[in-house]
Amino acid sequence: MNKGHAKAKVLVTGGAGYIGSVLTRVLLEKGFHVTVLDSFMYRQTPLLDCCAEDAFEVVRGDCRDERLVTDLMRDKDIVIPLAALVGAPLCDQDRMGAVTTNLEAVRLLCKLAARSQMVLFPVTNSGYGIGEAGKFCTEDSPLRPISLYGETKVEAEKVVLDRENSITFRLATVFGASPRMRMDLLVNDFVYRAVHDRAVVIFEGDFKRNYIHVRDVAKVFVHGIEHFDVMKNKTYNVGLENANLSKLELCQAIQRLVPSFVFLEAPIGEDPDKRDYFVSNARILGTGYHPDWSLERGIRELVKCYVVARKGGCANA
Ligand SMILES: NC(=O)c1ccc[n+]([C@@H]2O[C@H](COP(=O)([O-])OP(=O)(O)OC[C@H]3O[C@@H](n4cnc5c(N)ncnc54)[C@H](O)[C@@H]3O)[C@@H](O)[C@H]2O)c1
Repeated sequence: MNKGHAKAKVLVTGGAGYIGSVLTRVLLEKGFHVTVLDSFMYRQTPLLDCCAEDAFEVVRGDCRDERLVTDLMRDKDIVIPLAALVGAPLCDQDRMGAVTTNLEAVRLLCKLAARSQMVLFPVTNSGYGIGEAGKFCTEDSPLRPISLYGETKVEAEKVVLDRENSITFRLATVFGASPRMRMDLLVNDFVYRAVHDRAVVIFEGDFKRNYIHVRDVAKVFVHGIEHFDVMKNKTYNVGLENANLSKLELCQAIQRLVPSFVFLEAPIGEDPDKRDYFVSNARILGTGYHPDWSLERGIRELVKCYVVARKGGCANA
């Protein structure tokens, strides 16, 4: 345990989610006191291994509940708002829920936060490079979200940065195993198909995307807390520098590890997800952060993960 964090108290909303359930475990191992607020909308049971820890508290509730959030924030040093309706399809199914959870609840939290409380917030980088094929994007490139999900996250990021004493992370597409598994994310989805269906048909296979492992996302939150004073009031792209890969290249990487995997590019048809960009991670690397998980290592992990986890269980779609 890192004694330096022994007394710092963290509130993680959405802490039972894909990122949150990995992050909560890492924060506890680092010596933080962690309180999770989550509605458990996926009926998942990801935090069971944390319940043995005295430094862990968990509340089943809604991040839009002002009285509850006021109460939970009162004694916290650090707040990490992860609770959201995540992804364009889910937000389109419940547009009101998307705006109130992804944007209004973050506005509420920033209104309630004392100036001294640190806020660290994740955003999707999916709005970069839309309509500008092959573009190289930095944090100064405009984010032009094309979905309600993207719009709510980009608006919420502005609210978080405006309050100051905050950091936001613009995450690449996350991959890897988590106690609350998500199989709808691109790498996780393709590896699932490679293992269980042996085949995938891809649309617009030359479009470049970038990726980051879920444990490296947890690592960047800890890094942000530990270097808060020099990093605060800025946004940081977080992705693997050597994994700006097209969907075809991603399939080739999977095939190297799952040789029976077959993939075909459809001659017609479009992917509604228009991401096609190179993202620079120079700013976060300049703060001394380095990811530990390569794409290949994550694919090997996922192949084992899918021996355990199957669709129809706790995962999305
Ligand atoms: N996974 C990615 O690729 C990615 C990329 C960029 C940003 N993010 C952001 O990271 C955060 C976490 O994403 P995730 O992938 O872990 O998704 P997730 O769906 O696994 O986690 C979201 C969690 O929020 C909870 N939740 C939803 N509505 C709630 C409410 N009203 N009150 C309380 N809890 C509620 C859900 O039960 C779930 O546990 C989100 O803010 C998302 O926008 C994720």
